[in-house]
Amino acid sequence: MKIGFTFDLRSAWLAMGYSEEETAEFDKESTIDGIASTLEELGYEIDRIGNLHQLLERLTKGDRWDLVFNICEGMHGVAREAQVPALLDAYRIPYVFSAPLVLALTLDKGMTKRVIRDAGIPTADFSIVAVLNDIWKVNLKYPLFVKPIAEGSGKGISERSVVTSTEELHKSCEYLLNTFHQPVLVEPFLGGREFTVGIVGTSDKARVTGVMEIVLLDNAEKGVYSLSNKEQYEDRVQYLKIDDITRKQCENVALEAYRVLGCEDGGRVDIRYDSTGEANFIEVNPLPGLNPVHSDLPILSRLHGISFSELMKMIMDSAIAKVRSV
Ligand SMILES: Nc1ncnc2c1ncn2[C@@H]1O[C@H](COP(=O)(O)OP(=O)(O)OP(=O)(O)O)[C@@H](O)[C@H]1O
Ligand SMILES: [Mg+2]
Repeated sequence: MKIGFTFDLRSAWLAMGYSEEETAEFDKESTIDGIASTLEELGYEIDRIGNLHQLLERLTKGDRWDLVFNICEGMHGVAREAQVPALLDAYRIPYVFSAPLVLALTLDKGMTKRVIRDAGIPTADFSIVAVLNDIWKVNLKYPLFVKPIAEGSGKGISERSVVTSTEELHKSCEYLLNTFHQPVLVEPFLGGREFTVGIVGTSDKARVTGVMEIVLLDNAEKGVYSLSNKEQYEDRVQYLKIDDITRKQCENVALEAYRVLGCEDGGRVDIRYDSTGEANFIEVNPLPGLNPVHSDLPILSRLHGISFSELMKMIMDSAIAKVRSV
């Protein structure tokens, strides 16, 4: 089976003149090599295509694949994660992971929460600050949490995300609006424990690979699993397996969210408890980080006895079953 591999290699975008910040979510060589070599070990023939531009060139040349392993995050526009799967759909080439609708929706955390709320899944109330003047419309109880509406990998998330007064809300929103040029999502700060849930499969075949608690150590940036805590996780974060009752609650919220949103083949759902002891949906990552060593999904799978190779096999088996059922 000939598998194309689409990805955003950070160094390729840096070489095109984009900045460190703009390319922060993109993958390093070690991640791409780790994925490609694992797929090869699983017996697949891998053709490294690269990003959207490289895919376009190859398609125009007439190249085709049986299936494409797609982890492109994209560079421009609110549908940037959806662009590669949309193009592949147009050429009738099947791919691993979710479809354009899911990838465009879930990049927008506000829109995603509307769908989640509509399905009756617990998620914190929220307000959207698109321009600074909107902060007067925020009618939520402090402390609040603010973040860019459509970023990932902890971009724009720091201690400054937790705000306790209108003055701080104003300052943090101003900073985020000026830095990320997109609306700010404002939510009540969920003060309870935090978990991330790994899922593989599609619709009724979706299942949890593990739930892990994210425990911030004393030297971590306080209260948030921020960009700097993620980058220095070896010193600042402890990842733990958890008791059965909490695990079941997290699994239920995560699996329901994953299925309602229509995610395919694999992903990760982030969860935090509120002050009433309810597990709340924070966000879903339908293109989960897949560095074999450092990314959360491989880490949590490993914690539950699932190697990176086994994880990749589960994801591929799900994608191939979809292709066969068409
Ligand atoms: N409402 C909230 N209350 C408390 N903490 C929150 C809230 N929303 C987000 N956080 C904290 O901020 C972190 C990052 O938020 P979120 O998962 O939305 O961002 P992200 O950058 O998309 O993350 P990822 O790296 O998983 O892609 C969470 O893991 C959590 O620690
Ligand atoms: Mg997250």
